[in-house]
Amino acid sequence: MTEIVPLDESGLERAASLLRAGRLVAFPTETVYGLGADAGDDKAVARIFEAKGRPRFNPLIVHLPSLALVEKYVELTPLACRLADAFWPGALTLVLKRKPRARLSKLVSAGLETVAVRVPAHGGARDLLRLADRPIAAPSANRSGRLSPTQARHVAESLGNAVDLILDGGACKVGLESTVVDATGETPTLLRPGGIAAEAIEGIAGTRLAVAVGDDHTPASPGMLTSHYAPGLPIRLDATAPRFGEAFLGFGPTRDGEAASLSREGDLVEAAANLFRLLHAFDDAARYEGIAVAPIPEIGLGRAINDRLRRAAA
Ligand code: TXA
Ligand code: MG
Repeated sequence: MTEIVPLDESGLERAASLLRAGRLVAFPTETVYGLGADAGDDKAVARIFEAKGRPRFNPLIVHLPSLALVEKYVELTPLACRLADAFWPGALTLVLKRKPRARLSKLVSAGLETVAVRVPAHGGARDLLRLADRPIAAPSANRSGRLSPTQARHVAESLGNAVDLILDGGACKVGLESTVVDATGETPTLLRPGGIAAEAIEGIAGTRLAVAVGDDHTPASPGMLTSHYAPGLPIRLDATAPRFGEAFLGFGPTRDGEAASLSREGDLVEAAANLFRLLHAFDDAARYEGIAVAPIPEIGLGRAINDRLRRAAA
């Protein structure tokens, strides 16, 4: 099994030298664990797709430790600057035009003229990016179509020996992937709901987000494929009580037959942080035949949670 090492000075140094050598390292961010590789190294990027068993057309997010470095790779628009000021470092990914001479693998953006970039808020992640001294492509560190990992253990379970080293920085605070926004023009387009609420982005942008609606045949962003976030067990939404064999996942005031709650207080931020951990736990328990989930309000982070659950239920 792949070695899991603590995110300390020696762990960071080992991880950075592996990345510089074109190897794969899983590392924590504030959203989910990423499966990192040198974004300028085609082979290293190809290894990501191999390890994940991911379809080739999915472009990856490029992670950098600062806005100043981001500017070397993409054309920043006025909109992108406002969003970066407000939300970076943090759980926002911006899709922008790639600079013609940017030293980035073509595979990283799956042949598109745009590239997705993010400055993570996790201090350990930024330390790693600085030490590696190169842009790091990192999708969520799970096999394609499975749950995103929010703990080092999830990565090991999902990827096995396909990753060269796993840095353990504990549980991810946000627990949902970053929100992906196309900021190439004047109006932001939401490509994937995530850890930063659409309303917050609209507040800074001063305009409503356009929503790119994808489906399995013509996805706006391949991350919107309906099968993308499936746990092993079937999911039933808007449930008020469990059926026989189901684990019942609550939200808000306790309901009869609840196995666990996303948030007893009805707090959507807490629910987001708990979502993947609880779905994983039910999958692992090997005693349920399905997961029933109580209704989650369709506001703020609730939209991102419902989006994940709907895809899992599809
Ligand atoms: O929170 C996160 O975003 C995590 C952590 C590790 O940073 N990463 C992550 O990466 O979720 P990934 O590869 O699983 O998701 C990338 C998303 C996908 O929905 C992909 O289709 C979209 O970003 N994306 C990437 N590049 C794009 C592009 N050039 N145009 C449109 N969508 C793009
Ligand atoms: Mg993913």
